[in-house]
Amino acid sequence: MGTKLNVGVIGYGWAATAHIAAINATRQGHVTAVWSSRDLDAGELSTRHGGAIRVHRDLESLLADPAIDVVDITSYPSQHRDQAVAAARAGKHIILEKPMANSPAEVADIVAAAEAAGVKGCVCFECRFSSQFQATKAVVDEGLLGRLHYGEVDYYHGIGPWYGQYRWNTKRAEGGSALLTAGCHALDALLMVMGGEVESVSSLGTKSSAEVFRPYEYDTTSVTIVRFRDGAVGKTAAVVDCLQPYYFHTHLVGSAGSLLDDRFHSVRLKADKGHWSRIAMKMLDSGDVSDHPYQAQFQAFFDAIEAGTDMPLTSFREAARTFAVIFAADESAARGGQPVRPG
Ligand SMILES: NC(=O)c1ccc[n+]([C@@H]2O[C@H](COP(=O)([O-])OP(=O)(O)OC[C@H]3O[C@@H](n4cnc5c(N)ncnc54)[C@H](O)[C@@H]3O)[C@@H](O)[C@H]2O)c1
Repeated sequence: MGTKLNVGVIGYGWAATAHIAAINATRQGHVTAVWSSRDLDAGELSTRHGGAIRVHRDLESLLADPAIDVVDITSYPSQHRDQAVAAARAGKHIILEKPMANSPAEVADIVAAAEAAGVKGCVCFECRFSSQFQATKAVVDEGLLGRLHYGEVDYYHGIGPWYGQYRWNTKRAEGGSALLTAGCHALDALLMVMGGEVESVSSLGTKSSAEVFRPYEYDTTSVTIVRFRDGAVGKTAAVVDCLQPYYFHTHLVGSAGSLLDDRFHSVRLKADKGHWSRIAMKMLDSGDVSDHPYQAQFQAFFDAIEAGTDMPLTSFREAARTFAVIFAADESAARGGQPVRPG
């Protein structure tokens, strides 16, 4: 029997409800506290989620509680930096929802505070733990596609008034950009499967003329071309102003075959090139947080805390590399598509 980890959740919105269920379903974690700006009822929360949950209105009191081992930050993006830095200084390990923060300086502050305090971090790029991307990465790692020279991973999900976070997502200070607010999952998946170091990125932005997307203070569609140091090229479209079903599109092209979503062809298997072969995988096909693979990710994080190591795939350092590419892409779009080297 390993360590029990008491988790305090910061912010109690939609993501928080999915996180609590996922944390409580891990071997070690259970949620024992929630901080909210609202006056929540501790009895009601405890009944809804199971276990005894204390409610804090004051973040300092939650962070000062020595019984809390881990905090889980699910608040507005503009609050992430200050809350994560305070949590690190209080010696708490941190689960942090995406975006880590909306500026390079804020992300750097978070990484530095965690490293100075010796606490571990987990960023909610949970798609890396999805059945779809675990299987896709395995196909690549088994060499079935040969050496990848081109990859596309695209995010199509209309975030209009029908989606809860629209209420704050339209603001530049919160949503940030099409990549920061949601397309980050696709760019992060592209970087995971392509593997190499990024040399430069070029990006262009635009937006829908549909009335429902008019309140957005930033371009809600962007397309980013990534040049890797080994010469490979990648592309991510981040489209949060589309009117269509949720679609996480993947197309990888290598020297021994191709993969398209849940289909592939490999010359290594001597299969018929006239048809795709299918891979059984659970697809990322919904923007509903209750369907996100948080449990596998949080289990990996808690196992890493127990082992005293950085977690695989979504540690603060690893996720910060993806955000460096995103900030470079947004800078490129602001400069009309000029290539920018990630900082
Ligand atoms: N990784 C993912 O796939 C994923 C999915 C959804 C959200 N998120 C992220 O999670 C974070 C929170 O997003 P969310 O979807 O939970 O948004 P949300 O609007 O439900 O909650 C955001 C914040 O608003 C607060 N809040 C909610 N209703 C409120 C009210 N009536 N009055 C005052 N405060 C209220 C919540 O406590 C929370 O701090 C964001 O950083 C978002 O980007 C990530």
